[in-house]
Amino acid sequence: MKLLLVANWKMNPQNEKEAINLFETVKKGIKKKKGIEVVICPPFVYLPSLHSRSKMVSLGAQNVFYKEKGAFTGEISAAMLKSLGVAYVILGHSEVRINLKETDEIINKKVKECLESGLRPIICVGETEEEKQKGQKAEVIERQLAKALERVPRKYAKKITIAYEPVWAIGTGQNCQIDEAMGSFLLVRKIMVKLYGKEIANATRIIYGGSVTAGNAASYINEGLANGILVGSASLDSKEFLQIINSIT
Ligand code: PGA
Repeated sequence: MKLLLVANWKMNPQNEKEAINLFETVKKGIKKKKGIEVVICPPFVYLPSLHSRSKMVSLGAQNVFYKEKGAFTGEISAAMLKSLGVAYVILGHSEVRINLKETDEIINKKVKECLESGLRPIICVGETEEEKQKGQKAEVIERQLAKALERVPRKYAKKITIAYEPVWAIGTGQNCQIDEAMGSFLLVRKIMVKLYGKEIANATRIIYGGSVTAGNAASYINEGLANGILVGSASLDSKEFLQIINSIT
């Protein structure tokens, strides 16, 4: 399976010109890489201008709504994203769970809507610092995953990527230790076996996110056996992001 390198730009950069510059610089720096797929997830508003430029790089979105169309002010549908060349959608990111109070139930609806529309969800799971201290990590990951995948048919299961993103590691500079992350990947794999059986579980990409830099990215893949990486702030620095790409290939 190909490694997945996902750039989550979050609410950056501040204007379209900067977005195009960053995108083009990254694109130019990517030499033909076998075995790796680079996915850039910009804010929605930059998708139209990046769509036409997106050779070598796949496009992702940072969220989606779970209804097809209609009176849903402020929302964006899966079909709209597809029409702009989007292939992946990040769902259940802790910043959305926290800032918009997104629940596991809503995430589940979004996962189903994406899959039915032919988009590939990247489902984020992970414990907070407090849950970690209380020894609830496994319980949290299991609940988030089981809920996100409730009644998601087998035929779609291979399209799913799971991102283990401990909340305490996101944007803090405190990346998760490799052996600890590896334990979580194994746990995710086990839950997938329980939900869909071994074949699908083994075909599911499990990636890591949380304070990834050019200095630590490769160890999650080489030592931790992650199937990819989700990069936040380091993806806004084209030089560092290209270093990450080079370090994992
Ligand atoms: P970070 O963000 O790399 O800035 O920690 C990761 C994420 O939120 O996906």
